[in-house]
Amino acid sequence: MEIRLTSGKRLSAHEGSDLYQALKGNGVYLVSSCGGKGTCGKCRVRVVEGPCETVSHGKLGQKERAEGIVLACRTFPKGDVLIEIPKESVLVVGDKIAISKSRDLFELFESFSVDVSPVVKHLCLDVPPPTIHDNISDVERLKRALDAAGIKGVRFSHGFVSSMAGALRKAGWKIILGYTEDLEAVFVGSADGYNDKYGLAVDIGTTTVVVYLVDLADGRLVDVGSTYNSQIRHGDDVITRIIHATEGGGLSELRDAVVGDINDLLNPLVERNSVERDDIESVVIAGNTTMVQLFWGLDPASIREEPYIPTANFFPRWKAGTSHVAVNSQTPVYTVPCVASYVGGDIAAGVLASRMHKRSEIALFMDIGTNGEIVVGNNEWLMTAACSAGPCFEGSGIRHGMRATEGAIESIRIDPPTWEPELGVIGDSQPLGICGSGMIDAISEMFLTGIIDQRGKLVRKVKTDRIREGEEGPEFVFYRGDRNVALTEVDIENILRAKAAIYAGVSLLLKEVGFGLEAIERVYIAGGFGNYLNVERAIILGMLPDLPKEKFVFLGNTSIAGAYLCLLSADLRREAEEIASKMTYMELSVSRRFMDEYLSALFLPHTDMTLFPTVAELMKK
Ligand code: FES
Repeated sequence: MEIRLTSGKRLSAHEGSDLYQALKGNGVYLVSSCGGKGTCGKCRVRVVEGPCETVSHGKLGQKERAEGIVLACRTFPKGDVLIEIPKESVLVVGDKIAISKSRDLFELFESFSVDVSPVVKHLCLDVPPPTIHDNISDVERLKRALDAAGIKGVRFSHGFVSSMAGALRKAGWKIILGYTEDLEAVFVGSADGYNDKYGLAVDIGTTTVVVYLVDLADGRLVDVGSTYNSQIRHGDDVITRIIHATEGGGLSELRDAVVGDINDLLNPLVERNSVERDDIESVVIAGNTTMVQLFWGLDPASIREEPYIPTANFFPRWKAGTSHVAVNSQTPVYTVPCVASYVGGDIAAGVLASRMHKRSEIALFMDIGTNGEIVVGNNEWLMTAACSAGPCFEGSGIRHGMRATEGAIESIRIDPPTWEPELGVIGDSQPLGICGSGMIDAISEMFLTGIIDQRGKLVRKVKTDRIREGEEGPEFVFYRGDRNVALTEVDIENILRAKAAIYAGVSLLLKEVGFGLEAIERVYIAGGFGNYLNVERAIILGMLPDLPKEKFVFLGNTSIAGAYLCLLSADLRREAEEIASKMTYMELSVSRRFMDEYLSALFLPHTDMTLFPTVAELMKK
């Protein structure tokens, strides 16, 4: 069977596979939040001609159906077909995404006043060459030279020994030995041909992957690469990926996807900077618990099942060869330790980068990404929880929701006399959808101007034709064009659920440690989303606590910042380990009190308006 695309491409498809799978098999990926289960409604395509059987229309409206739009994952071609893929359905994963280099990174490192001490240390050794009279083996010879240098107990792995004999002779026995801080020999090089050594700090996010190439001599950030995590092809959130890994048999597929992303980012970095892969001597990985397990090829099934147990929180220092990262196979890979199933090394790295664990002030750390994680504490104690807000701020579960890429409405102002919205669109292009920061703006503006009430319902007496009965019920249209961009009451309900989960997590965690909001002296906001978050609007929404604006500090991607710190310093690796072991994890999903907090937070901004005095003041105005 042949699938022709209106762009002119011709693809072949197997009998019995749906359009989503058939396109995927040919390297054409569609946006899919549900991983092809027919529930998210994102994989819309138009069948222009040819026989197809559609088994379900899911979320598609009458108008779309009349136009020939179908869900690709619920549609089976029954012969040669011609398909049109709308722009908003195309998933772009290979593209680089803009993540600003952290200018203050080295300053941050210096603020810890620790020495540069990467995972691998070096030792120059002048090893006496073997003779007929001094005929002990190469390994014994190396041990003897190490003993003479005062270094005892070095271990030799099979991988090291198998390449050692040639390397010793090639170097003429005047060598530089690379060994890890826990005394494992990893490299032998010639003392004459010493190159600069590099390291990689890697953040594996559910949505994005970021790689920093770092000069290990002075901690200089040499280059940065970032891309979408290709695992997105199998679903937006960690739960969908765990299901794909365990029930769908896709563990190796998910592992290959993320390791492939890291390697794809690495290629231009080494080329641009003329760096030899063999000179990349250490790698540090930070990610949430599921991402880290998938990276190491560990089945994440038990993370999802009560009592929610990960396979490991503290990972041995396995080798790059085991991970398939394309550097020297002996390069040690340090995994920033995780805390629990839903609080990973990205959060330990984040706390490290925020330095809240060093200060006596009570601080709140919130990582608002695809998952929401919260930490409260100071230099004496740390308590943490994750709230399953879901990826709605990434566009999932929202009819016209999308990620913060070109064409996404990211800011909105509504003029009350006319109810006309003024839109800020990424790339100044035609709006294709609305991203997380746009959703926060939209709802806070609609609320303050009286378009929606405290329950998020559209107020019918507002006289504007932008409020209308859409195919999925009442909606407010922000943009009218070839493709309208609207928020429906159902979308608003989903956004309120996500913000309620985040607020309830904060509220319950504080109650658990016996503190009120007034005790919080600093709020650190982390996560890619944190870059665009408007604090005042997020307070009006009731997602962030109503605290003075000056208490909020934006930190951007703290997972990669923490990975960078761990790459450079043994002391900071120990600190990350202390943070992870010190953090007390609270499992919110089993708490009945969480449900009470959550239900109270479902209103705009909250049922208890005394918690949001500045919003109450704005409402009066
Ligand atoms: S509805 Fe088809 S991928 Fe979600």
